[in-house]
Amino acid sequence: MTKQAGNVGAFDPSELVSAAAKAGDPPYFHRQPPTVTFDFDQGLPDAATYPADLLVRLAAETVMEPYALEYSSRGEYMDLSYGNRGLREELAAYLSRRDGRPQDPDGIMIVHGSAHGLSLLAKAYLEAGDAVFVEAATFPFGIRYFEATGATVIPVALDSDGMQMDDLRKCILMAREEGLRPKLVYVIATHQLPTGAVLSLARRKELLAMAEEFDLIVHEDNVYREHGPGHEIPTLLSMDKSGRVFQTDSFAKTVAPAMRIGWVAGTPEAIMPLSKVRQDLGASMWLQRIMAKYLAEGHHEQHISELRAIYAEKRKAANQALRDYCSPEITFDEPVGGWYYWLKLSEDVDWPEVQAECMRRGIAMRPGEMFSNDPDQKPHMRLAVGHVEPEVIVEGIRTLGEAIRQVGSRSRA
Ligand SMILES: Cc1ncc(COP(=O)(O)O)c(C=O)c1O
Repeated sequence: MTKQAGNVGAFDPSELVSAAAKAGDPPYFHRQPPTVTFDFDQGLPDAATYPADLLVRLAAETVMEPYALEYSSRGEYMDLSYGNRGLREELAAYLSRRDGRPQDPDGIMIVHGSAHGLSLLAKAYLEAGDAVFVEAATFPFGIRYFEATGATVIPVALDSDGMQMDDLRKCILMAREEGLRPKLVYVIATHQLPTGAVLSLARRKELLAMAEEFDLIVHEDNVYREHGPGHEIPTLLSMDKSGRVFQTDSFAKTVAPAMRIGWVAGTPEAIMPLSKVRQDLGASMWLQRIMAKYLAEGHHEQHISELRAIYAEKRKAANQALRDYCSPEITFDEPVGGWYYWLKLSEDVDWPEVQAECMRRGIAMRPGEMFSNDPDQKPHMRLAVGHVEPEVIVEGIRTLGEAIRQVGSRSRA
């Protein structure tokens, strides 16, 4: 750690930090173009969809409720680790309606966004010697939180139908041979990040059967499910007969990321260990009351159906533009939902050069290696279109096509 110039004797924390902090790396964010003209980088909702006026009204109404500005309602100490009972009841009703089976409010824990739920699950269930199976390209913070427990994270092959179950079986058996304890499978089952894949119904059934066979936990990350058709496939949580599925979800991709209100759903018995490792006094009670009222007034279903139409239009623009301007150097599976394009790059193209050209032209995208700890992954780029206007999507992809051709003509010259 560099000390500030002239600050003689400034405190250097590097020798005093815990072993966990020493072992960890700071979060990695890749380099951005100096001026971003086409921002396909971060996965974000369309800002025009944020229900700001509604949130203002709900905030004004809920702040007047008794105890709204306290840690919890008087005597409701369980709410400090599980979250506001009103919100848990509304969410349980919503999940029960959506999935066609009852969800117990005591099997829901409210957290600071689903990433927090993911880290709590990891802390409550994983330790050194455990094996965690993830899609070969996945949510990078997932890998990070799992590895922080000392568990070994094993990538499993992935195609347009999601995680491949024959490869999962191979990986489980291999982990066992290596003396690891196969413990948890993490899947972003619907509109997967970064590929957009939807885990097929047949594979969902196989996954649950394998979880029984090998005594595994299944962690379904559900944050993109509401973004397109494909939502008619049942969630793993709703198919679970034995209580070994956890589902993390949040309002980040539907209402607004800044809410930082998410949840983990499962059975009360399976959720309880999370309360043992949780070390805070809960998410903002006021925001939780706002979201409880938002659900109770029935806004969520309506809002989601509007989002589906908006994101379908953006995908339509991106599908066509990629075919028109970037073929044959880029190939991709058309996503049926969500915001993401997983662009497979032709081996005939000098991709570092294309990346440099994209930087010059102000195109921000995410390099594929950010989504994987698998050295065998082929080169990919991840394009996020959720927050981009359809005309800008088309113009940005046209510019990407120009960058590819410019590099191609330079290398032929
Ligand atoms: C797959 C996946 N899971 C979880 C998260 C975190 O979401 P939240 O804002 O709910 O913590 C993200 C955010 O990008 C994500 O892509």
